[in-house]
Amino acid sequence: MNPPLPATTRQLRSLITSDGVLRLSLEEAPLPVPAVDEVLIRVEATPINPSDIGNLFGPADFGTLRHAGSDGRAVLEATIPAPAMRSVAGRVGQSLAMGNEGAGTVVAAGSSPAAQALLGRKVAALAGGMYAQFRCIKAADSLPLPDGAAAADGASCFVNPLTALGMVETMRREGHRALVHTAAASNLGQMLNRLCLADGVGLVNIVRKPEQAALLRAQGARHVCDSSTADFAAELAEACAATGATIGFDAVGGGALASQILTAMETALARHATEYSRYGTSVHKQVYLYGALDTGVTEVRRNFGFAWGIGGWLLFTFLQRIGPEAAAALKARVARELRTTFASRYSRVITLAQMLEPEVVKAYAARATGEKFLVDPSR
Ligand SMILES: NC(=O)c1ccc[n+]([C@@H]2O[C@H](COP(=O)([O-])OP(=O)(O)OC[C@H]3O[C@@H](n4cnc5c(N)ncnc54)[C@H](OP(=O)(O)O)[C@@H]3O)[C@@H](O)[C@H]2O)c1
Repeated sequence: MNPPLPATTRQLRSLITSDGVLRLSLEEAPLPVPAVDEVLIRVEATPINPSDIGNLFGPADFGTLRHAGSDGRAVLEATIPAPAMRSVAGRVGQSLAMGNEGAGTVVAAGSSPAAQALLGRKVAALAGGMYAQFRCIKAADSLPLPDGAAAADGASCFVNPLTALGMVETMRREGHRALVHTAAASNLGQMLNRLCLADGVGLVNIVRKPEQAALLRAQGARHVCDSSTADFAAELAEACAATGATIGFDAVGGGALASQILTAMETALARHATEYSRYGTSVHKQVYLYGALDTGVTEVRRNFGFAWGIGGWLLFTFLQRIGPEAAAALKARVARELRTTFASRYSRVITLAQMLEPEVVKAYAARATGEKFLVDPSR
C-alpha cells in the first residue's frame, strides 16, 4: 500500500534581493490538489544541468557561498557582484521555483480519463519547479516512461535528448550535411555522438582535454579535435573537410572558438574552390552559440569570407518553430531510445537539502565532464 500523502511539499526556491544577495531556500507549500486534467507527481529524480545552475545562482560569486538558515532551516546565500546585478534585474525580488525537468510516480490524479490513466505510472516532465517533493502538472504535459523504466532513466529525457535531436534536425532543415560540436564530452555531447553514429551523420567533436578525446574515441567517435593541442586549427580544418561540416553548435560561447570553427570550415571549403575570390567561398557557414560555459566576450576574427553567420540557439524556440507534430515525433524517439541513445549517467545522487551545502554546490557547479548530479527529492 502507498504511504498517505503529506499535507505540504518542500521545494527549492531561488531569490535575488535588490541589495545583491542570492538566497536559495527550501520552502514548505501546501500539497497541490490536481484539477480534473492534472496529475500530482512524487518527484524521484531530477538532474542538475548547466541551465539549472545558471537559474539557481545567476552571476553569484561562488567564493561567497555561506549558510544563512536559522532554526534548522536550510538557507544558502551568496553575493552578486554589483556590476552583474543589471543582468538579473528582471528577477529581483521574485522567489522562483527551480528545476527544469525530472521524473517520478503519479500519486494522485484528476477525474479526467487521461489523468486517471496515469495513476501509479512513472512519468517525466519538463515543467519547471521540479526541485520539489511533489509537482502538479497537466496530464497532457507528462511523458509516460516505458514499462520497467526507473525514474532515474527518465529524469533527463527532455532537455539534452531534444537538444541533440534538435541540432541534427536544424542541420538538415538548413541544408547542411555534417556538424561540429564543442564541449563534446558533455552529457549532451556523448548523446549527440551516439545519435550521429546511429543516423550516419558526420560529427566533428571539439574537446579541451586529452582524456575527453580518449573518452569520445572509446565511444566510437570518428573525428575528435582537442583545442589544447598545438595543431588544433589544422586538425579541425581536416575534420571539416572529411565530414563536409558547415554548421556548428558551440556550448562554450565565450572566447575565440566559434570564430576558429568558421575559419576551419572555410579552410576546408577553399580546398575545392575552382577560382580565387577575395570574398571567400560562397558556401554559407553557420555557428550557433547554444551555451555559456564561458561567460566571457565572444571574439570574432573575420578571416572566413562573407558567407557566414553566428547566432543563438535555444531548445524552446526551436520546438516552437517546428510545431507540435514535429516536436511530438522527436519526443517519441526519445522515449523509444531512453536507455540507449539518450541515456544519461550521473556521478552522484543527492537530496534537496544537500543541494544547499556549499561544498556540494561547488562540486555540481563545476560542470565537469562525467560529474552530473541527480537529485532525489523523495529521499
Ligand atoms: N541552448 C539550449 O537549448 C541548451 C539545451 C541543453 C543544453 N544546453 C547546453 O549544453 C551544454 C552541455 O550540457 P550538459 O548537461 O551536457 O553538460 P555537462 O554534462 O555538465 O558537461 C559540461 C561540459 O562542459 C565542459 N566545460 C565546462 N566549462 C567549459 C569551458 N569554459 N570551456 C570548454 N568546456 C567547458 C566540461 O568539460 P571539463 O571537464 O573540461 O570542465 C564538460 O565536458 C551546456 O552548456 C548547456 O547549457 C543548451
